[in-house]
Amino acid sequence: MHYLIVGAGLFGAVFAEQAAKAGHQVTIIEKRNHIAGNIYTREVEGIQVHQYGAHIFHTSNQEVWQYVNQFAQFNRFVNSPFALSKGKLYSLPFNMSTFYQLWQTITPQQAKAKIEEQRQVLKGKTPENLEEQAIDLVGTDIYETLIKEYTEKQWGRPCKDLPPFIIKRLPVRFTFDNNYFNDTYQGIPIGGYTQMVEKMLQHDQIEVRLNTDFFANKAAYLTNYDKIVFTGMIDQFYDYCYGPLAYRSLKFEHEILSIDNYQGNAVINYIDHQYPFTRIIEHKHFEFGQQEKTVITKEYPADWQIGDEPYYPVNDQVNAKLYQKYQALAKKDANIIFGGRLGMYQYFDMHKVIEVALATAKKELRN
Ligand code: FDA
Repeated sequence: MHYLIVGAGLFGAVFAEQAAKAGHQVTIIEKRNHIAGNIYTREVEGIQVHQYGAHIFHTSNQEVWQYVNQFAQFNRFVNSPFALSKGKLYSLPFNMSTFYQLWQTITPQQAKAKIEEQRQVLKGKTPENLEEQAIDLVGTDIYETLIKEYTEKQWGRPCKDLPPFIIKRLPVRFTFDNNYFNDTYQGIPIGGYTQMVEKMLQHDQIEVRLNTDFFANKAAYLTNYDKIVFTGMIDQFYDYCYGPLAYRSLKFEHEILSIDNYQGNAVINYIDHQYPFTRIIEHKHFEFGQQEKTVITKEYPADWQIGDEPYYPVNDQVNAKLYQKYQALAKKDANIIFGGRLGMYQYFDMHKVIEVALATAKKELRN
């Protein structure tokens, strides 16, 4: 079988690796000038720069952990971000350190009582918007100090105008545990993600063509290969025939600074409206770097329109229904497998994309 894989991101790379290992021929086309999709890292001043935003690998799935460890060695990085709000730093995720910083509470009982007291402002009302939902979950102080303005920047709208379902859960920990993730395994691949994906694609039967857009030659690609794994946008594949699916976009601004340490942590969230960006990443801290210079990246939320980079699917009812219509078309195309975050119109963390790609490959290649 000769597979054409559209997109050299994580989904495409995992599928390619599995297909080549099973003896198939694989051609990957990628419209960007590099492999690895959004997990792409490049070396600047000896530092691995996460070009499309902070990427921290975490999973509790042992099979996925063993899988990635074939291609990279992972360091001991644990994500413990801080949030800057009105001139003060707070620990994330919300935990006993955060409560101490907010209220000087010492015991879990004191912190719980404070949150409970502040939740009462809703007087048992069912939350009708994101503001009420957040207050119902964590009370007024945490909402106003750490959630409100950040969320408004992310979505470009007041929290009162956003639906409550956007935040179903807001994890609150009554321990002094600053680890953002709950997973068993966590780390950053030493040498960067690009090197990890390069290793996945190192196989005689895998050919990668960069700067190659599927839509420049769609008709030929559809006829020249036995099967296509498509990890681009599913609505674009069908010429937006039902209309475009909605996304939120991001802009990244990278800067090299001639100092060795800018903020002392890999990720700091900027809550206040006065900062147009939501986060600053200092890349060297992902790998405990000791270089003389440092590289930082400011992350700006942005509206999305066709032609912009799509980052986050907007999972509201309108878009869910629209996606179902595209899915129905996809079901009829037996020779096309839609995969990854754009092909499946779903936000996936890296371990999830790997899980889904391994399962898809297993099902596809079992014969
Ligand atoms: P990806 O987008 O990576 O790959 C698809 C590829 O297809 C792209 O390279 C694209 O150029 C190419 N393509 C599209 N259309 C094409 C066409 N017409 N022709 C040719 N090529 C085409 N996860 C996590 O576990 N920990 C984290 O910390 C983060 N952090 C994070 C931050 C931000 C800002 C975002 C947006 C996302 C994360 N993630 C994450 C999620 C992570 O980025 C995600 O799981 C993977 O990138 C998904 O890989 P895919 O292969 O699905 O898509």
